Amino acid sequence: MSTTKLKPGEARFPGPSTKDIILADGWDVPDELIMQSYEYMGSEDIDFSYYTSQEIFDAEMEKVWPKVWQWVCREEHIPEAGDYIVYDVGYHSILVVRQKDRAVKAYYNSCLHRGTQLKPADSQGNSANLRCPYHGWTWNLDGTLEDLPCDWDFPHVNKAEANLPEVKIGQWGGFIFINMDDDAMSLEEYMEVIPQHFANWPLDARFTSLHVQKILPANWKASQEAFVEAYHSYETHAEALAFSANNNAQYDVFGDRTHRFVHTFGNPDQTWPEDQTQQDILDKLPSIPDGEILPEGMTARSYAAAYQRKAVGEMFGVDLSKKSDSEMLDSIEYHLFPNMFLFPGVALPMIYRFRPNGMDVDSAIFDLLFLRPLTPGEDPPEAPEAYKIGINESYETVPGIEQWLGHIYDQDTANLAAQQKGFKAAKKKGQTLGNYQEIRVRRLNKTLLQYLNA
Ligand code: FES
Ligand SMILES: [Fe+2]
Repeated sequence: MSTTKLKPGEARFPGPSTKDIILADGWDVPDELIMQSYEYMGSEDIDFSYYTSQEIFDAEMEKVWPKVWQWVCREEHIPEAGDYIVYDVGYHSILVVRQKDRAVKAYYNSCLHRGTQLKPADSQGNSANLRCPYHGWTWNLDGTLEDLPCDWDFPHVNKAEANLPEVKIGQWGGFIFINMDDDAMSLEEYMEVIPQHFANWPLDARFTSLHVQKILPANWKASQEAFVEAYHSYETHAEALAFSANNNAQYDVFGDRTHRFVHTFGNPDQTWPEDQTQQDILDKLPSIPDGEILPEGMTARSYAAAYQRKAVGEMFGVDLSKKSDSEMLDSIEYHLFPNMFLFPGVALPMIYRFRPNGMDVDSAIFDLLFLRPLTPGEDPPEAPEAYKIGINESYETVPGIEQWLGHIYDQDTANLAAQQKGFKAAKKKGQTLGNYQEIRVRRLNKTLLQYLNA
């Protein structure tokens, strides 16, 4: 053991790193997967008021949400001309519409007559035009005015100019994004390293197989921060340590708006007390059916990856023969500020979004999507509507979800009500973060502050 004193943020759990584990698998992996990018950003407490203050919540409505790129839906949510979807965040409401020429446009969801929302909050459907339900002012899909009833009474309205004000649109990886800031940088630039990293993992070659939406009993930031570190696994998912290596899960910060972790599966945490054989580990891996016999010379990790390669490959008609064990199995999770999570992995192919629930500082809307591989040459099927579960309902009740994953989401979300209440009950008014494992919480807070102070 070296006696050199480590600087803050330099300490790691001893033993093999995530990169060591991935390289030991013996596969060719993209450089982006094993690159490391950690920087110490201070150790001071972060005030709980970020999660509880109505004033900060209101400031976010004014200074964060109207300035950032945020994903609204997948392309396959609105495949046909006239398909629309309404994206709400706090009091902001954006109407996104597929055009006749397949392009996408977005409008502020507010009538130019007396302000009524043109389409109901949180709605989706298909419309030949955009007709206000109050007095019937009607716009074409492209935002030009089609009809102004009793126009004799509105000589002061120039109909040729009464277009619906547009919101900036971005399209990437099969996702549709909006940005309310007319002067926003391009989506590509905003995403920092993500376009380059995901050149290895094209998400437009996936489709939405499942969408679950749940209200969570905590501020939108506390809710998403339950998913940016694996440190909580020691307590919250303790049984999973038998087959997932938490210690030295890798944490990377790539820029102000992007960071990730890589958390390997199929091998135990080094703190796991029991001696287990590779067969024992395989038996505990929830993604592998019971009764699989590990062939001589294979590890549980390599067998589980091979199993998924075959099962997922056959199910979706895709060739996964070049996908490394890590890309098959691991929890590889990127975050794009303010609220998008992207998993490039094959067995864990999730997308998350965390938003304020209306104007409630104490709750959030959590969208969870699974993106499965698209059979080459096929168009994606239309995206399923969100399956909504109540605040106390289990993810295990969701049709189509893998039970073990449902159980993990239940564990993750079960902490949130207690945390939100504990913020308010505190004598010590801030959270104390791990320098390494919780660096992404700190990054999120620093970037939020950049927007709030801009
Ligand atoms: S408010 Fe929309 S037509 Fe009157
Ligand atoms: Fe978790």
